[in-house]
Amino acid sequence: MMPTQHASDQTSLRGLFALPDDMLYLDSAAHGPPLKTVRAAATAALQQSTTSWFGGARWRDDVERVRALASQLFDHDADAIAMIPSAAYGLSIAARNIPLQAQQSVLVLEGQFPSNLLPWRQRCAEVGANLVFARRNDDQDWTAAVLDALDAHPGINVLALPQAHWRDGSLLDLARISDRARARGASLVLDLSQSLGAMPVDLEAWRPDFVVAVGYKWLLGGYGLAWLWAASQWRDHGQPLEQGWMAHDRDALWQVGSNGDVMPLAGARRYDAGGVCDALRLSMAETALKQVLDWGIADIAVQLQRRTAALDHALQMHGLGSLRTHNHAHHICGVQLPPQRTDAVARALSDAGIITTIRNDCVRIAPHLHAGIDEMSRPIEIIAKAL
Ligand SMILES: Cc1ncc(COP(=O)(O)O)c(C=O)c1O
Repeated sequence: MMPTQHASDQTSLRGLFALPDDMLYLDSAAHGPPLKTVRAAATAALQQSTTSWFGGARWRDDVERVRALASQLFDHDADAIAMIPSAAYGLSIAARNIPLQAQQSVLVLEGQFPSNLLPWRQRCAEVGANLVFARRNDDQDWTAAVLDALDAHPGINVLALPQAHWRDGSLLDLARISDRARARGASLVLDLSQSLGAMPVDLEAWRPDFVVAVGYKWLLGGYGLAWLWAASQWRDHGQPLEQGWMAHDRDALWQVGSNGDVMPLAGARRYDAGGVCDALRLSMAETALKQVLDWGIADIAVQLQRRTAALDHALQMHGLGSLRTHNHAHHICGVQLPPQRTDAVARALSDAGIITTIRNDCVRIAPHLHAGIDEMSRPIEIIAKAL
């Protein structure tokens, strides 16, 4: 690890990231900016795993060490954590296990990321349940839209939601939503891929059944190792998607033969996927998690908020305040473009070496700690000129 640097230490933080000097990377919602330490860990792990095998006993320790680190993002209970390859994998576990009957409904947001939509669509089709989409009016935020949908559809039994919408960072008040959902006995499943690592988690207030997040965005790790947190009622029972040997008591497996009873590993480990705990993914995740936890999520959130506040200010200064996402998260800000200007804005940003994602005519700007607060006016100047 590099020496500890405070999340507010702007000048030196940039040096921790492996990004070209002539690029302004504002696309952390697509992929977190690469930490030099994570890149070095990946290189070392690749070298090690292609030149030697370091033995099963140590590998188990490595897996459990990284699991324990990930648990610090939630409730510090490693038994709650499963290691999975993708958000869709974890959400498919939730969709398979949560009780759902014909005529009941699952609530999602309009335009929700497909990983938290397709597993529910399939489950609804299997049991004859319905998908309900929360839709926002112009003067509404997502929380109001979700609460309205709950009122309008008494059959909603599962809410499958994010904390911040992936396209523009618009926020949901999960505590309020959870209170209403729980009062009517509905389950809550959260995809925090666009917030875990950048916004604090409040499990006590949200009381979710399952929480899922990828490791490669705001957790600054690599592809292919994501996290599933399971509430206590889902740790002692629940069907995994696959019957993998790594998720079972391996000592017993080798001894009992093909007909013996072999127990799943303790807690949410029963959902562990095969093949995700290779040295490369483990070492990238371990290095990245240590850095994120060392900075502290509350501090990261405060520092990212300074950046998006600077974006909001620049939009106001250019008379574009009405284009920005209302009630956006501290780490993601959207700028809604007139459709006929989208291509021109995309070209102008790209020509200037500014990396963002544009979806549905919305420029998504998602800085991380490498980006200086004073740089936040640049994308807005370019957008303003290209409009
Ligand atoms: C909200 C959200 N969920 C999940 C993902 C990725 O899902 P998966 O790991 O299933 O590819 C993304 C990627 O952009 C996302 O924005």
